[in-house]
Amino acid sequence: MKKYLIVILLALVLPLSACNEQKKEQKNNPSMETTVKKDFMELAAGRYSVRHFASTPVEQEKVDLILEAGKLAPTAVNSQPQMIYVLRSEDAIAKANKVSPCMYGAPQAFLFCYDDNRVCRRGENGNFGEIDVTIVITHMMLEAYNLGLGTCPVGAFNADEAKRLFELPDNIHPVLMMPFGYPADDAKPSDRHTTYRKMDEMVEYK
Ligand SMILES: Cc1cc2nc3c(=O)[nH]c(=O)nc-3n(C[C@H](O)[C@H](O)[C@H](O)COP(=O)(O)O)c2cc1C
Repeated sequence: MKKYLIVILLALVLPLSACNEQKKEQKNNPSMETTVKKDFMELAAGRYSVRHFASTPVEQEKVDLILEAGKLAPTAVNSQPQMIYVLRSEDAIAKANKVSPCMYGAPQAFLFCYDDNRVCRRGENGNFGEIDVTIVITHMMLEAYNLGLGTCPVGAFNADEAKRLFELPDNIHPVLMMPFGYPADDAKPSDRHTTYRKMDEMVEYK
């Protein structure tokens, strides 16, 4: 009996330690890490702009994870100039629908801005705010999709009106809105989702 117990225990423990060894080995060997990149490609290819959302609100734990993914994004000189408003009160959603025709029925949305007091300057008059925020948004879109949610990045919104209605300070500059939530049953990718230019049109090796 004792013998059997030991055999069962070993059968349970050995694969776990083999798995840990494999992870350690992957960490020390960058070429091995390439074998797991397919998961990312599936994520990148599967995400699409959802244009019909269910009315079910997203759980706070999922919102937290999406925000955490955004926090991990790189920004110029690590300035982290992003300011993210989570719009979800009845009042905020009514205002969001006023500033954009592209809420697509979502019961919540992010309004992405950058803070002019934190942003890294670029040349005489420029800054990296929009680039930084766009990278943050990309992290968040992919994590949302990873959690079974849909998103739609929206440039079609009135930034001045958003500033006014949401009472944003002068130093806060809106960049994009993003309705997010559970896709409605009939949500599907548009044709554009799989319309790609040829690689050799947009990539040139020098
Ligand atoms: C900067 C930016 C602005 C966009 N603005 C809008 C918008 O205002 N309304 C909308 O429905 N989709 C908008 N989109 C979504 C694009 O139309 C969509 O990403 C593109 O057609 C590819 O389709 P896919 O996201 O389904 O792969 C925007 C996307 C980006 C990156």
